[in-house]
Amino acid sequence: MLFQQQRKSVVQGIVLSGSAILTALAMPAQAVDWGSVPATEVGLFFPGQTSLEWIYGKRDHDGAARYQKRKKTCQGCHDGDQPEYGKNIVTGGDTEADPLGGRRGYVPMQVQLAQEGGNLLARLSWPKTGPAASKQDGDFDTKVTLMLDDQSVEEFTAGGCWAVCHIDSKRMPEAEGDGKTKYLAESRSKMSKKKGGGDNLLSDAELQALLGKGVFLEFWQAQLNPGQPAKAVDGYILSERTNNPAPTVSATATETGDSWVVEFSRPLAAGANQKALTAGKNYTLGFALHDQNTEGRYHLTSLQYNLSLDGGAATLSIVGE
Ligand code: HEC
Repeated sequence: MLFQQQRKSVVQGIVLSGSAILTALAMPAQAVDWGSVPATEVGLFFPGQTSLEWIYGKRDHDGAARYQKRKKTCQGCHDGDQPEYGKNIVTGGDTEADPLGGRRGYVPMQVQLAQEGGNLLARLSWPKTGPAASKQDGDFDTKVTLMLDDQSVEEFTAGGCWAVCHIDSKRMPEAEGDGKTKYLAESRSKMSKKKGGGDNLLSDAELQALLGKGVFLEFWQAQLNPGQPAKAVDGYILSERTNNPAPTVSATATETGDSWVVEFSRPLAAGANQKALTAGKNYTLGFALHDQNTEGRYHLTSLQYNLSLDGGAATLSIVGE
């Protein structure tokens, strides 16, 4: 079986201080004092064609056996490797057969989280870069995405974004035709290390049953162009990436000096195809950045983070060991 039980522990955390929470509560809606909310630096790096199938490939990935046995998480082995990996992979090699050229391979992103007025807020800020030599996405300069799960998908808890990235996805080594969008192994009756999940889809009724049980990932995306308001998109991933018809996530964007600053907000109560955000529960987050008009797999991605919510705080921490 490709996917097994995981074991994880949290080794590092940042907690909002009580005074920060009180300050936030005393202020009007949507006016968190971000200056008093600690930031976690999330390393975004270019992952090339390292699919989930590659992760489990013992010939290609030296961590495969121990990852499969859940002896270590990705962060447990790789926290700190992100800048070097990104800069190497983006120029092409074993794990990137078709480099774009002129790209940066690593971007540090500052992430702050807070609860306020019945919403979870996420403030992301990262350095801008110059224009693209060629545009894959003609509509948006930049897209920033957050994926969220309430531990419904073990592979996402252990491996973050790689749970939805497959060897048969668009412009990946085994893509047929246009290739697949993001999907979870849970949506397929059979997964193969050589070919991915292909068209081995569960029936519609089985997929609906999984959605009903809450087995899916949620995503929030802000689509950005300089000088224009952010466009918010949200949706879920099970058998493919699916946008919700009307987003409940809102996003605002500002440009300060050389950085983008995006603020997401989502009600704690779950809408359709969303996770309920409840105190005392643990969530897993992953982040992705399409800069320079890129699309599909040509993004920068993060390893996975743990989010815990309590009565007033939202705490992001690295999933280690
Ligand atoms: C038990 C330790 C271990 C675990 C767990 C592990 N890896 Fe690795 N990984 C390695 C080693 C060792 C290498 C190769 C040595 C190097 O380049 O530093 C590697 C290489 C990589 C590379 C570099 C590929 C390249 O072309 O340079 C990436 C990306 C990567 N791993 C991602 C992941 C992700 C994502 C996870 C979790 C889903 C993961 N790894 C889990 C040990 C691990």
